[in-house]
Amino acid sequence: MYDYKNNEAIEKVLIDSETIENRVKEIARDIDRDFADKRLVMVGILKGSFIFFGDLVRNLTIPAEIEFMKVSSYGSGTVSFGEIKVSLDIGREDLSECDLLVVEDIIDSGKTLSKLVPHLAKRARSVKTCTLLDKPERREVDFSTDYCGFTIPDEFVVGYGLDYDEKYRTLPDVCILSPKVYL
Ligand code: IMP
Ligand code: MG
Repeated sequence: MYDYKNNEAIEKVLIDSETIENRVKEIARDIDRDFADKRLVMVGILKGSFIFFGDLVRNLTIPAEIEFMKVSSYGSGTVSFGEIKVSLDIGREDLSECDLLVVEDIIDSGKTLSKLVPHLAKRARSVKTCTLLDKPERREVDFSTDYCGFTIPDEFVVGYGLDYDEKYRTLPDVCILSPKVYL
């Protein structure tokens, strides 16, 4: 178990790595079942989903293709639609025979996925979403995901890919960030 004793930025472990590992395996089994007769293209949303994405795809037993996107609700991107910007798009034009599963780290306001999904739905045969974490209390726009690892309370979390100011992504567990860091 990772030792957080000397890390003052971490308030506590919210979901430990073993719990995450078990849940990831369950989600992979659901995806195996639901996409068995589809052409699954897993779309990882960078950077926050990168560890979840890697663990999830390694637990699939059905064939899957891999793509990545980088999306943000601010900053300068190459393509823009609605309020979100795409700074890295899926690396192929024709998705008309693909069944996409968009993989996110966390759904917070819901803005990112509620804008992204309709955009992808115009290009692909089907689009579903999978998130490691969901904070429903923070929702500003109506959005519900097809697959979810854990529903969590309104706390800022880091680790297992998630960052605060680009830090803490490499921690093995999902941890609550100490308010000392951002207050
Ligand atoms: P949404 O569009 O508000 O749902 O934004 C989701 C994005 O906000 C995620 O992909 C994260 O990058 C970021 N985010 C929201 N809550 C947290 C958190 O608790 N920790 C780290 N990143 C977060
Ligand atoms: Mg982030």
